[in-house]
Amino acid sequence: TAARRVFSGIQPTGVPHLGNYLGTLDNWVTLQERYPSVLYSVADLHAVTRPQDPRALRTNTLDMVASLLACGVDPRKAVLFQQSQVPEHAELSWILGCLTSMPRLRHLPQWKIKSKQKNEGSVGLYTYPVLQAADILLYKSTHVPVGEDQVQHLELAQDLARIFNRRYGHPVFPQPRALLGSARKVKSLRDPSSKMSKSDGQTMATIYITDTPDDIALKIRRAVTDFTSEVTYDPEARPGVSNLVGIHAAAAAIGVDEAVSLARGLDTAAYKGLVAEVLVQRLAPVRQRLLRLKAERSHLEAVLDEGRRRAGELAAPTLQQVRRLVGF
Ligand code: ADP
Ligand code: NA
Repeated sequence: TAARRVFSGIQPTGVPHLGNYLGTLDNWVTLQERYPSVLYSVADLHAVTRPQDPRALRTNTLDMVASLLACGVDPRKAVLFQQSQVPEHAELSWILGCLTSMPRLRHLPQWKIKSKQKNEGSVGLYTYPVLQAADILLYKSTHVPVGEDQVQHLELAQDLARIFNRRYGHPVFPQPRALLGSARKVKSLRDPSSKMSKSDGQTMATIYITDTPDDIALKIRRAVTDFTSEVTYDPEARPGVSNLVGIHAAAAAIGVDEAVSLARGLDTAAYKGLVAEVLVQRLAPVRQRLLRLKAERSHLEAVLDEGRRRAGELAAPTLQQVRRLVGF
């Protein structure tokens, strides 16, 4: 059986928000403790599926490394690297792309959504899920943390592992399994019917890990609730208050029932004060670390150099095996 190995990646698209932190990055920190081998990629090859300013991309990549470190990713426990620095990703993606049918990609929901937004998607955007499969399979990864919106992409990686192994008569790639996060989606503070997102135009809707304690308190105070003053958890009927309960629970690492019981006797206004306090406690150290790390460019570059070396050591033998099987 294959050694247990976790792979995940995040695009270098600016400062992580509370949804990224509580939904994804906090889990990355947990996984690096639980699995013997863990790789986290700053996915700049994925980022260029959409137009990027080169200088901004370079800055955003280092900033994302700083953010990941600030959130608790530990380069001694996880290989933290920049995707484009390991050329095997692109090469394996090409080989896997040649085993992928056009209709298989056309029916993936993200292509349907993103290509519509952009009118005409690029070939890169279209084959993005193949690159994701290559990211995962290149390291013979066995476990992949995924959100619900990524399940079909992981299924493509699973299919491509099977297709490659069968086609070339050799069990090169293990089946990567989904680690379905227990984390609920964090919703927009201004419109709890949609998820919190960096693309939200409303400045009060999204909390960032760089927000000051005052920013956080103000945004939570302005969060949309309803006309019932008691705090209950009912995402269908009371999405605003329930979002705050969800944030509270995730930030304090407790269940929603416990969060609700801590709110007993508080009206929603007072409860917002409590939620803000818990969030500030959680985010203030992250923000402090991030401010410090952002000034340490050479340290960030050293982390990426080391990540490139370690990821490359794992990727090279796999690609060598693949190349031999393919007939290169
Ligand atoms: P955004 O939606 O702000 O563009 P991304 O798509 O870059 O964020 O997502 C990066 C990671 O953060 C993904 O793993 C995604 O599932 C997670 N994520 C994004 N928004 C949220 C949210 N509101 N709640 C929980 N997780 C989220
Ligand atoms: Na998104």
